[in-house]
Amino acid sequence: MRRASTAGESAIRGVDLPVVLALAERLDEVALQAMAYTLGRTKLFDLPEQPHPVDEIYAAVRVAPRHRRILRRWLWALTQAGMLTAGPAGYNGLHLVSAAELERATIDLEDVVDRLEYGPAMSHFLLSSVAYLPELLRDEISLQTLLFSEDDLSVAEAVYRKNIGSRYINRVAATLLRGIAGSRRAPLRVLEVGAGVGGTTQDVLAALTDVPTDYLFTDVSRFFFTAARQRFSHPGLRYGLFDINHDFAGQGYQPGCADVVLAANVLHNAVHAGRVLNGLRQIVGPDGWVVFIDTSRDHLQLMTSMEFLMSPPANDPHADFTDFRRGTDRIFPHRSEWIETMQSAGLAPVAALPGPSEPIARFAQFVYIGRATAH
Ligand SMILES: C[S@@+](CC[C@H](N)C(=O)[O-])C[C@H]1O[C@@H](n2cnc3c(N)ncnc32)[C@H](O)[C@@H]1O
Repeated sequence: MRRASTAGESAIRGVDLPVVLALAERLDEVALQAMAYTLGRTKLFDLPEQPHPVDEIYAAVRVAPRHRRILRRWLWALTQAGMLTAGPAGYNGLHLVSAAELERATIDLEDVVDRLEYGPAMSHFLLSSVAYLPELLRDEISLQTLLFSEDDLSVAEAVYRKNIGSRYINRVAATLLRGIAGSRRAPLRVLEVGAGVGGTTQDVLAALTDVPTDYLFTDVSRFFFTAARQRFSHPGLRYGLFDINHDFAGQGYQPGCADVVLAANVLHNAVHAGRVLNGLRQIVGPDGWVVFIDTSRDHLQLMTSMEFLMSPPANDPHADFTDFRRGTDRIFPHRSEWIETMQSAGLAPVAALPGPSEPIARFAQFVYIGRATAH
């Protein structure tokens, strides 16, 4: 574990973390301003004393039923930030943000994003998400069109690979997998789930070049396979479909079929986190490893962008998680909840990196390492 965290630190050597972390908070501030501006445009909150029940706010925004959770999360975030008041009769007292104020808030966004090392595609994406929030809420445009324009995956790569937080986390995961491979002769069987744009795959494959591997790159959709095939040429790399929310064996993933499961930024999509971890534990068999990366706090900036990808489908708009998040509107389990869930699923929580008191932990992205125990 020590080697993994040292490798993570070396991936961000020279970065002025306190400065960078303060910049990351600027993204959350912009998100709050954008939420307030979008709600203010409905004119519903023009009378500061007048409370509005949630249903009235849904109607004013004309939010699509499947995105109602996002709107409720905004109401929660604005209330937490003191920009809205919640009372028994509804919400009132929205801190109204004008178009000019929002523009001022976003003026240095490009610079902020640049200094967080996301690259130019990211600021364009964030600005267009903010500009299209009413249409996104109404489901008139999809976030996918803003994120993956013309098969260009550069924004997704910025989010999952290039920036400072991802560099740390991906290097930790890669070093761990190299450590697990050790000096074995038989191929290390890795099942990556939700591999997507392969932000983590890239570092992991680079760390495994001197080890025989059978690497199954999977996702719920084939969409990403073409780009991955062009990018990766590792011997033993295969592709397959895998949905963490459907019966594993029914999809051809039998108990013991992998030595390591790797899951980066996908397990928060588990309808029931405990059941999915339990299934993954069976896939790796006794002594196998489940290594996963997840965001473990609410990032306001995600609430005005990536969370649109996490809403239920239009044909089941009120679907909810069935685990401890049910009825809470939360998406991302906290660090302690993941650790408890691993334990209940028969995974000894070997580590969760970075440690909670390390400065980089303020990004709230962690690598969780679980070892299958007999269950
Ligand atoms: C946030 S992206 C992370 C991509 C990649 N792991 C990375 O870090 O670069 C989440 C990925 O999980 C996939 N995904 C979403 N729901 C899933 C499910 N139920 N089963 C498997 N994969 C899923 C998405 O298609 C997407 O590629």
